[in-house]
Amino acid sequence: MIAILADFNEGKVKPIGKQTSLIKSFFQAAEDLNINIGVFHPEELVNSKTPQGYFWGTDIQNLNGDIQNWRLTRRPGFFDDHVVIYDRFYSSISGFKKSIQQQKHFLEQTKSLPFLNPVNLSEALTDKKHFAQTMKKLNIRTPETTTLTTYSADELWNFVMNHNSLILKPRLGRMGKCVFRLNSFRKSVTISVTISINNKILIADNKWNLWGIIRFFCRQHGIKPELLIVQKTIDTCLIDNRTFDFRILVQRSSGDKKPGITGEVARVSRPAFVVPNIDQGGVVIPLDHCLSLIYKSFDDAQKMCQKLHQYALFAYNRLETIYGRIGEIGIDLLVDKKNKIWVVEMNSKPGRIAFERLASGFGLSYSQKRDFAEQRKISILNPVKYCQWLAKHNKPICD
Ligand SMILES: Nc1ncnc2c1ncn2[C@@H]1O[C@H](COP(=O)(O)OP(=O)(O)O)[C@@H](O)[C@H]1O
Ligand SMILES: [Mg+2]
Repeated sequence: MIAILADFNEGKVKPIGKQTSLIKSFFQAAEDLNINIGVFHPEELVNSKTPQGYFWGTDIQNLNGDIQNWRLTRRPGFFDDHVVIYDRFYSSISGFKKSIQQQKHFLEQTKSLPFLNPVNLSEALTDKKHFAQTMKKLNIRTPETTTLTTYSADELWNFVMNHNSLILKPRLGRMGKCVFRLNSFRKSVTISVTISINNKILIADNKWNLWGIIRFFCRQHGIKPELLIVQKTIDTCLIDNRTFDFRILVQRSSGDKKPGITGEVARVSRPAFVVPNIDQGGVVIPLDHCLSLIYKSFDDAQKMCQKLHQYALFAYNRLETIYGRIGEIGIDLLVDKKNKIWVVEMNSKPGRIAFERLASGFGLSYSQKRDFAEQRKISILNPVKYCQWLAKHNKPICD
């Protein structure tokens, strides 16, 4: 049994929100492999022996005989099966919900249910400050990270002036929300911040002004200033005045085989935007296409492609030395003007939307689209297969 942890809204057409279609694909993959699967709130698994969860299938019929896709129901004998947890429960940008985290730890430790990704790992990757400390310990290149509240208004102003450009972002941020870029410009600071696909650019001409603008945005978006982190901006080149990054998906399909790269794309921002995230209007292009726009020589582009692959696998393997086997991670990489690779983020719950976009991508050949559709299919099959492996290597619980 694969128990997907997620938050859901009962009775909606898309009960699991933006993740609904991805999770539906997990159901299809599990059905093909003859594995039971359901979506549960962690609290249900902690408190109930017959937990209530969401199930999807075309064979589920309601009283009128209509085909129903999603059904909220209880599953008797749930814990008689081998249960493996696939955590897709997101934390909120304004802070971890302690009770949810405790429930996840309880399921992993006290109930001894295996997680596709260890709970401690997901926590470390979700909190960007914790993430930076972990990367430092493992010698993985990531920007030096401090918290905003360690600076006085004066120190922050001088920091921007000395380094020309800084990034401010929420510790628990995602989807490129509320990422600020501060650039020194003559004797003032320009502040660019992307809010709901709107790029705002403001100018602060003194330290109090800068401080005030940051606090204003924090208040507007429910983020406490102490939850903002500060990094030097990685100096990357631009493509047509757009920033870009690379997303590489590394996954296991079994605990006995080496992890491998099962997806790779480049994300390109809207012109003059700070972040290339899809949720902020970024577009997805094939990684090799992006490299061909940066490097004039085909050889240089190919070399960088290999380096990106190596670095993603290196980072994954290094993480496994601390946390044990990992099921999947989406790794976000930046390349600076000196061709150095930086790991800017690792996602323990990677979405598949980027691969989906390329499967129907504009300007791609039929065979490219087919390859990307295949990539997405494999990226969905792998965690299901890995859960199957985990189930076999973990005894069911008897309590
Ligand atoms: N220190 C940095 N230097 C340059 N660009 C950055 C930096 N930090 C973040 N970015 C850009 O902003 C994007 C979003 O930041 P990220 O930390 O991944 O937050 P989120 O979780 O919201 O996606 C990154 O993909 C990258 O393109
Ligand atoms: Mg990101």
